[in-house]
This record gives sequence, structure tokens and C-alpha cells, in this order.
Amino acid sequence: MNPELQLAAELADEYINGIGTTDVSRESDPVKLRQRLSKDLTDDGTPPLTVLQELYDDALPGLLNTADGRFFGWVIGGTTPVSIAADWLVSAWDQNAAAYACAPSAAIIEEIAAEWLKELLGLPQQASYAFVTGCQMAHVTALAAARHKVLKAANWSVEEQGLFGAPPIRVIVGEHHETLLRAIRQLGIGTDAVRQVALEDDGTISLDALKAELESDSSTPTIVSLAAGDLNRGAFDPIDAVCDLAHEHAAWVHIDGAFGLWAGASDRFRHLVTGISKADSWATDAHKWLNVPYDSGIAFIKDADAHKSAMTIHAAYKIEMDDVRDQIDWGPEWSRRARTIPLYAALRTLGRNGVANIIESCCDAAAGIVDGLGRLPGVEVLARPVINQGLVRFLADDGDHDRRTDEIIERINATGEAWFGPTEWNGMRVMRISVSNYRTTQKDVVRTVEIVANALMEIQ
Ligand SMILES: Cc1ncc(COP(=O)(O)O)c(C=O)c1O
Repeated sequence: MNPELQLAAELADEYINGIGTTDVSRESDPVKLRQRLSKDLTDDGTPPLTVLQELYDDALPGLLNTADGRFFGWVIGGTTPVSIAADWLVSAWDQNAAAYACAPSAAIIEEIAAEWLKELLGLPQQASYAFVTGCQMAHVTALAAARHKVLKAANWSVEEQGLFGAPPIRVIVGEHHETLLRAIRQLGIGTDAVRQVALEDDGTISLDALKAELESDSSTPTIVSLAAGDLNRGAFDPIDAVCDLAHEHAAWVHIDGAFGLWAGASDRFRHLVTGISKADSWATDAHKWLNVPYDSGIAFIKDADAHKSAMTIHAAYKIEMDDVRDQIDWGPEWSRRARTIPLYAALRTLGRNGVANIIESCCDAAAGIVDGLGRLPGVEVLARPVINQGLVRFLADDGDHDRRTDEIIERINATGEAWFGPTEWNGMRVMRISVSNYRTTQKDVVRTVEIVANALMEIQ
């Protein structure tokens, strides 16, 4: 075997075998990391095996152990071994998955993976798609199609005429992720176009408020963006009812389902996305809940013409072929890695039941942790998981719950046995519990509750 690949395989194996036995938190001091990693750029280079070994040793202390089953920060997701292995093939093959002509197998793999995903997630079979870096770029791709369509209905060709002088667009949102706002900025729509409507107590968009907003203005080109699983509570907007209402007003409905869209793959959770196929576009990630390596986001668009009009590109050297799909016509990039290959391998390996098992076991673990924490003294449960996200905070006798919450999170993370992220929610410091890794077991649930109980006891 090629010695570089051999060493990399051994080191990767060592790392993966160490998951669960090493600290969840590691070195985060940037000064120390710079000291370790800054080397001289020499004239004649350094032997590759030395480079690889030192890279491993020097980077290791600064790797946040997100692959561990007790890592509950952000919504990171794990990586199944087959998806890591397939990702190695992506690099070995080094295909430029821009077009069929320069990467035929990668192009066909995309077609197949997209068909599987549409079936799994309950999306319309005719939807077009783009495999992008993450949900952020999936928003950009999907909303570019939306922008095209709603402006075309107002007799404006945004691709030719740009946005100067264009009819203003309105984007109606409920609970939403910051990446949606950045997509709106990047597309030149501007955040002034955003109309935040009232939410129900459970964090879902108020249908009455949405109706009032839609009825207040029947002429402005409109996009409604919904959350299928918000970051904090995993709240799902009433997709079915909103799609009916929004379509009565000729609005485009976009769904941010970065992780929540995967509820559609589970018999137990599919009811949360009832009506999902009625929407016009969907953005999601595979690097979160499908547990494939970064970077892997997906945009689906019902109106393929709008999608292609927004993204297509022409060049003299493009090799046009019949009956093939060139990715550059559908996504925002030109040269790109064949990032769909790990996704294809993961879906084939897991099958429908395997995907559903990941979703359901993560949801059960999230509920188990939140319920377990809720039984501890001084813990307030703010959001019991609808799916895999929950919120708690820690109560202090002196009433400074924010300080207490930050202190306890720091203590838990310092144990190296579990990792939670702090965040701000409804004006409070809170601890978010996010479970999106296939490695999280019921044992981890029990141990995590013990770790938090110990942190609480120590601080008394
Ligand atoms: C609801 C939601 N939307 C969008 C995103 C952005 O996803 P990405 O980081 O893959 O761009 C996230 C990330 O956590 C998210 O939780």
C-alpha cells in the first residue's frame, strides 16, 4: 500500500477507535495550538510521512471531540464508518463533479442519491436538487430560485435586470436560523424585506398572524420561510396549513429543515412534516443527521425551471451532452468535490430502517437526557424535545440563574466526559441539548445525567 495512505488509514483508525475513551473537550488555547502547528515553510519540503505524523500529533489536542456520543453541542452529527471510507474515495478519485463530462460516475451517483432522498423525506419526485456545502448554501440556492419565480410573476427577470429597480420582495418568517437571513443578504433581497410574524407559545408560526400579514399586502412578491425543526426547541411550523394559505396568496414556501426534514424518514416523527410535499423548496443537511462527513447540504426545488434559470451557466468549453445532468446548472459552484459519494454510501448501507433508527434513537436520547436532568434539583426544563433538541437552565438560590447556568455548563465541559453548548433563549442563558450522532446510546444518557448531577453537587 502507498505509505502515505497506509499511515493516514492507521492514524484515522487510531482516532476513531479512541472515540469514547478520550476527553470530549480538548485544547482550545489558540496560542498553544499556533505554537504546535506553525512550522517553517522550507525550500525543499518535508518528508510526507513526517508531515502526516506531525500533523496528526499537533492537531490532535485541538480537535473538538464532536464525534463522541456524549457531544451535545450545536447540531454537529457524527460520521458512520462507511461514510468516512467513501469520503476517502472521493479524494482518491479526485473527480471534479462540476459536470457529467468531467465526472460521469459522480453525476449519476447524484441522480440516484437525490431520488433516494426525495423518497425518504417525502418530497415530490419531480423536484430538482443541488448538493451544496451546507444548509446555508442550500438556502442561497433555493431562495435564488424563489427570487427568480416571484419576480418573474412581477414581469422582472432578475438574472438579466438585476435587483436595482426591481419590485421589492417580502420574506415572511417565524422562528428562523441566522443562515436564512444571510442568504437573503447574499441574494440582494436585504433583511429589510423580512417580516417577522408572531409565534405561538410552542415556537411555531401563528397562522392568524401569517394570514394577517399576507392579507395586508397582496401585490408584493412574497416568500414564506418555515422551520421544520428549529435549533432550540425543534419546533415544526404547521407546514400543511401554511402552504395552503401562502399559495392562496401566490407566495413561495421555503422550508429550513437543516436537520428536522429528516423527521420525514421516521414513521414515528413523520407527522411533524405533514404537507411537506406542498412546499416549493427545501434546504437540509446530510452532515447533521445522516451522519456523513462535512460538507454536505442539499437544496430541493419543486419548480425545476425556476431553479435552473437561477443557476445555469454557459461556457464555450462546456461539453453539452444529451440525457445527462450537469451539476453546474443547478448549484452555485463550478469546480467541486464529489461530495455526494459519502451520502450515497451512507444511504445504501443504512437503508430506510437504518436512517429511521438514527433519527429515533437520537430523539429518544434527547428526551431521556432532558427528562433525567428535569428530575435533578435546581434544573428547570424549558423545552422538552419535540425531536432531538431540548433546553434546560440551572437555578441559583440568589436568583442569578444566568451565571449559574454558565458555571454548570463550564463544569460539565471541563470533565471531558460530555459537552454542551450555552446559548441565549428568550432573554435567558440556557443549555441546549442536541443529539444528532448515531453513537449516542442509552448508556450515554444515563452517564450524562450523572455527570450533570455531579457538577451540581460540586457547586453546592
Ligand atoms: C435550523 C438550521 N438551519 C440552518 C443551519 C445552517 O446549516 P449549515 O451549517 O449546514 O450551513 C443550521 C445549523 O445548525 C440549523 O440548525
